[in-house]
Formats: sequence, C-alpha cells, structure tokens
Amino acid sequence: MTIDKTRTLLSDHVDMRMVAADADQAADRNTIVQLDPDHPGFRDPEYRQRRNQIAELALSYQPGQVIPDAPYTPDEHHVWETIWSALRPAQQRQACAEYLSALTRLSFASDRIPQLREVNEQVMAISGFRLEPVAGLVQPRVFLENLADGVFLCTQYIRHHSTPLYTPEPDVVHEIVGHGVTLASPRLAELNRLFGKAVRRTRSRAALERLSRLYWFTIEFGVVREDDMVKAFGTGLLSSAGELEEMQHAALRPLDLDAATNQEYDPTHFQPVLFCADSFDAMCDTVRGYLVSW
Ligand SMILES: [Fe+2]
Repeated sequence: MTIDKTRTLLSDHVDMRMVAADADQAADRNTIVQLDPDHPGFRDPEYRQRRNQIAELALSYQPGQVIPDAPYTPDEHHVWETIWSALRPAQQRQACAEYLSALTRLSFASDRIPQLREVNEQVMAISGFRLEPVAGLVQPRVFLENLADGVFLCTQYIRHHSTPLYTPEPDVVHEIVGHGVTLASPRLAELNRLFGKAVRRTRSRAALERLSRLYWFTIEFGVVREDDMVKAFGTGLLSSAGELEEMQHAALRPLDLDAATNQEYDPTHFQPVLFCADSFDAMCDTVRGYLVSW
C-alpha cells in the first residue's frame, strides 16, 4: 500500500486522549490543541480562527448549560457528508447489533454535522450520559474520571476539509459517531461509567496506564462474535471506514482482560491486534465483572 493510500484510509481513529498520559501534568480539561506545522489546517487562517472560536465556546461553557452550536461552514458539512456516506455501508456490514440499534435512536442527517447539543439531548434521555464540550485533548485521568459521573468530554471542531478521511486528532465525528452512539446504548454507557469509577479508585500511574489500555482495547477497539462473524463495538473502529476495512486483517485474541491491560498499542497506525469476545453479552459480563472488582 502506498503512503498516500495509507494516509487516505487513516481516518479518525487517533484518540490521543488515551496516550497523552502524563500523570505529573496538571489536570486541566481546557487545554487547547496547538496545530503542528504538518496539520492539514495549519496554513488555513480561516480554519484556525474557527478552531479558536469553537475552543472559546468550550472555555466559556458551564456544565448544565445548553451546549452552544458550533459555526460549521458548508465545506465542513460536506466533510461530514463524505465521511458518513463511506461509513454507513461499512457499519451496516461490520457493526454489532447493539451499535446499530443505538444508531437508529439518534438518526443523524446525512448532509450536515449534528450539533453536540442535539446529540446530547438524545443521549441524556436514553442513558443519562451528558456530553460536555472541551477545548481540546484532556489528560486520560480527567477524561476517564468524568465518565464515573456520566459525563463525556467532547471535542467540537471538525477536521480540515482538505482531508475528509484523515485527521491527526479526534474530532467531532469520532465523538458523535463513535462515543455519542455507544452512549445511546444503556449497556455500553454503564461500562463507560464503570471505567470512570475504577479510575477513581486507581492511584498509581502504572495502574492508570493498565486501565487506559483496557479502555482502548474494549470501548475504543473492541470486537465481538455475532452470527459467526466478527463485529465491532469499539468507537475507534466504528468512526473510521479505514479502521473497519483493516479490522478484517487484524490478529484476533480471546478477550483476556489481564492480557489487554498489558498489551502495547500504537495509535498512529491501524490496530494489528484486537481482543474478541464470544458474544456482546459475554463481553459486557466480563468487562463489568473486571471493573467492579478492580
Ligand atoms: Fe475515542
């Protein structure tokens, strides 16, 4: 595969929240992402201005308020249309039944980016989870501990329109299509809460890293067997047509959670190793039991 082809397929699977672990850094939910010179939007002053505008919305947001709508442009709505038209058929083939059922509850428009406000209202009514906008990436402990309170910290910007199928950071597409939909499943929402509670009981940096890896290999990249096929429930897979395509070539390991906590991963490449449960029910039971006794 050429580098260009790889880059085209690499989509919004990069959830750097889970790897930016620096336990010594101050816990702050409002760190603004600084664009690197190789970021697709680095040389676009209008995009950078809009990113700053959207970050300002998060900085002035108070929990419990109505989430302000982001000022997306027609080009950005077109990015959503491109991504969604690639993802929908891939999801129909490769998403687990629990995800597809949650997706029908949210019924996204195909031609415009759903606002966090709308998704939040629907998710809250279903599982009680609340989405809250943040200016950028937050530290893993901050991100995970908020889950204990039923709060999901969301970025609100969208990737640059020049690269609709590539983003170097999680954007609103990953948040909504991945996490928003799974939080509209009461069973997956419960697992997210249990992760948060387990993190609250975790003191050492090494133990936090083990839990972060477990979150990665379940909530972000988990798969289960369903009707003799391998189906995704992980948000990193389900928000990226490239990841769903590559998932079929991954080495599957049985869902051994101790092994998952020790499995290293590289967020900048497609995941070569996935942990697969025998069924969605078995996955829920196993992960719930593990987190409760953590
Ligand atoms: Fe994620």
